[in-house]
Amino acid sequence: MVASLEFKDVNLTYQVDGRAPVNAVCGVSLSIGDGEFVAVVGPSGCGKSSLLKLALGLEMKTGGTIHIGGDEVEKPRRDVGVVFQSPVLLPWRTILQNVLLPADVLKLPKAEASRNAMDLLALAGLKGFEEAYPHELSGGMQQRAGIVRALVHDPRVLLMDEPFAALDALTRETMSIELQRIWMARRKTIVFVTHNISEAVLLADRIVVMSARPGRIISDLQNPEPRPRDIRFLSQPAASELSGKIRESLDRAYGIPARELVA
Ligand SMILES: Nc1ncnc2c1ncn2[C@@H]1O[C@H](COP(=O)(O)OP(=O)(O)OP(=O)(O)O)[C@@H](O)[C@H]1O
Ligand SMILES: [Mg+2]
Repeated sequence: MVASLEFKDVNLTYQVDGRAPVNAVCGVSLSIGDGEFVAVVGPSGCGKSSLLKLALGLEMKTGGTIHIGGDEVEKPRRDVGVVFQSPVLLPWRTILQNVLLPADVLKLPKAEASRNAMDLLALAGLKGFEEAYPHELSGGMQQRAGIVRALVHDPRVLLMDEPFAALDALTRETMSIELQRIWMARRKTIVFVTHNISEAVLLADRIVVMSARPGRIISDLQNPEPRPRDIRFLSQPAASELSGKIRESLDRAYGIPARELVA
């Protein structure tokens, strides 16, 4: 089977004029199957966002190959959706107009895109807010709109870079459960970068741990526990055991006990 997203021996060295080169990603090989939910954790500055930017075609690798659905990534692609820490909605556009932005840019058929947007907004619990403006929504609702916007053009792969980091702890938990629900309904391939071990354990099928810069993969852990998982899942022995393994890997990655650094 063709992998949905595949990194093979990928390197990225940033070369900024007048400065020493920064080796951000080193020898990363990772094959992600269709519909798989993969979390990426690792120390700050280890190259997680860089890895996503490479898959998005926003940065050019300095070595190796990256394929999405069997095609080599050489420039930004339309079959990838992305969600950042802050949703950056345009204040003068309604929620519906905001989430339709990628469909407008890609000139997708309007009626079909609107139908998909309405379905996704309902799935994300935003029914009734289609005509509202971003400032009328809470932070969590805005981030949900950001997720809908990333999915509106029906991408093959959804890349999420600490999407819930700016939210309070309770909203963050609710959003994790909502994301799981959306993922179970749509089954997109998701790469989810987070600093939060519980979030990774709750959401992912597989957790990849990266070392400090230059980022290498130092563990690749499976999480086969059944879904849907709720917050209570985190106090079960399987979840605690997995959290422990991630912490051990992070201890190695940081070189100091990760429990002092990661919630
Ligand atoms: N555009 C760029 N030009 C030069 N160096 C960069 C650029 N983007 C990132 N870097 C460097 O590459 C390294 C990895 O950065 P990256 O943003 O990928 O880390 P990260 O793992 O996402 O960190 P965090 O957890 O803090 O978000 C850092 O040392 C950073 O300074
Ligand atoms: Mg980052």
